[in-house]
Amino acid sequence: VTLAKRDDAASGVRVLGADGAGPASHQANGFVRPFPWLAPFSDADLSTTRGFIFQYPPFPVAATLTPTIGYKRDIAGLYIHLPFCPYHCAYCYYSVSLDHRRESMERYLRALGREIESVADRFAHLYRVATVFFGGGTPTYLDSSSLLELIGKLRSAFGLSDIEEFTVESDPTTLSLEKLQALRYGGVDRLSIGVQSFSTAVNFFNERKHTFEESLSAVALARMAGFSNINLDLICGLMGETESSWNATLATLLSLAPEHVTVYLFSLRPQTSASLKLSRSGAAPPCEALRVEWMTEATRKLLAAGYTQTTANCFVRSPEFEQIHQRNAWSSLPLIGIGNSAYSFVNNSLIQNVRPMEKYVARVLSGGNPGEIDLALNARDLMTRYCILRLKQLRIPRAEFRQRFGFDLLQVFGAQIETLVDLGLVVVNEGAVTATPKGTIYVDDACRLLYAEDVRDCMSRVEETDLRPLIRSLA
Ligand SMILES: C[S@@+](CC[C@H](N)C(=O)[O-])C[C@H]1O[C@@H](n2cnc3c(N)ncnc32)[C@H](O)[C@@H]1O
Ligand code: SF4
Repeated sequence: VTLAKRDDAASGVRVLGADGAGPASHQANGFVRPFPWLAPFSDADLSTTRGFIFQYPPFPVAATLTPTIGYKRDIAGLYIHLPFCPYHCAYCYYSVSLDHRRESMERYLRALGREIESVADRFAHLYRVATVFFGGGTPTYLDSSSLLELIGKLRSAFGLSDIEEFTVESDPTTLSLEKLQALRYGGVDRLSIGVQSFSTAVNFFNERKHTFEESLSAVALARMAGFSNINLDLICGLMGETESSWNATLATLLSLAPEHVTVYLFSLRPQTSASLKLSRSGAAPPCEALRVEWMTEATRKLLAAGYTQTTANCFVRSPEFEQIHQRNAWSSLPLIGIGNSAYSFVNNSLIQNVRPMEKYVARVLSGGNPGEIDLALNARDLMTRYCILRLKQLRIPRAEFRQRFGFDLLQVFGAQIETLVDLGLVVVNEGAVTATPKGTIYVDDACRLLYAEDVRDCMSRVEETDLRPLIRSLA
């Protein structure tokens, strides 16, 4: 906040008297004339009558401040977690459920309905929901009537009359023309299909049970139902993938011309059946060097085909297909998450619901709070979070950082950014800190280097036991 100084005459501290010119004790009767503030004063002038401060910045100033760039307080994204899956892929570490009993799904949906009502009571009047995202798990494991009933509940709780994007994640085995038409009827305008690999053998080896033909048919059905904004997910470096199967996957993907493509790098987490497979039978995924080579090749082919890269993993056929939900969430806009394991970012707090589905259902149906983590972020955490989410979008804009937090980016993160520059992961110029091609591949490592020291220490203690042995075995 820059204020015009009203007084430049004073230097040093003055104690204001009746006329603002001298100490009050100089007044004959010990009383002062009112309104000493009518006289010019400087910040160093002391007066006990100048006013009681109760907050900051003062309202006359607040009224003149420009709202922070990119931060519209009145819109929020809505994420609904639907954990049911047809099978459990070997590599998957999401919060998923293979409990396919009708009553389990109904109980979960009942709990969701309760949480929707209570969250809407707290937030619906504060935010316009701009985007909705059904994620999982596999939302389309649910039948059409359950999906439409859920959408109906969201509509009556939040309105959803002027949303800009409604995405549903899906797996090819769970899609039919009838279900896709129902989703379109419910207002869903973006479909995300998990393909992972177009090789049937690779998918099956990773305990993902859909074929090449089923992936193609899912895309065709979605087009038939009228979806004109389709994302396809691939995983680069699945167990059993070879250079030729990866190239064939990329060729098929390009022939389908999806509006949006997400290429994840295979990540291996402890407690997944992939990590067990690895330790028991040595069924290793491709090594680090191959994964990097294949990701680079995927990027090259997508760009050559006319796609634009919007994040380290996302590519769009044209700019209007950039995913709004993710862009907003990664611009630090409010996000409301509902369901087990769902997280929210509201009022500068990070909240996460309890992960196990049964615990979530039990808590909500007994009238309890499903939140497990509720952390008000301090200024340092907000700045770090902002930088990390911007770097995931490959660029941290310096003017926006200054506008938002009042400091120059390099003043706060100078040492960490220097390390990133030395590692060849980013370049710094006047306008932004931008990821290099190497920084794009290793963007998550670059983000980790921005973690606060205590957070990094704590994470490396966790990873030392859980993750490092796995990562080493993949080098
Ligand atoms: C919730 S799933 C998508 C919907 C659906 N369940 C499916 O798998 O088709 C989200 C995406 O995360 C990605 N994913 C899951 N586990 C991963 C891992 N270990 N490494 C890299 N990507 C992973 C997959 O591409 C998957 O499509
Ligand atoms: S990748 Fe998708 S289908 Fe496979 S277990 Fe995870 S959420 Fe379920």
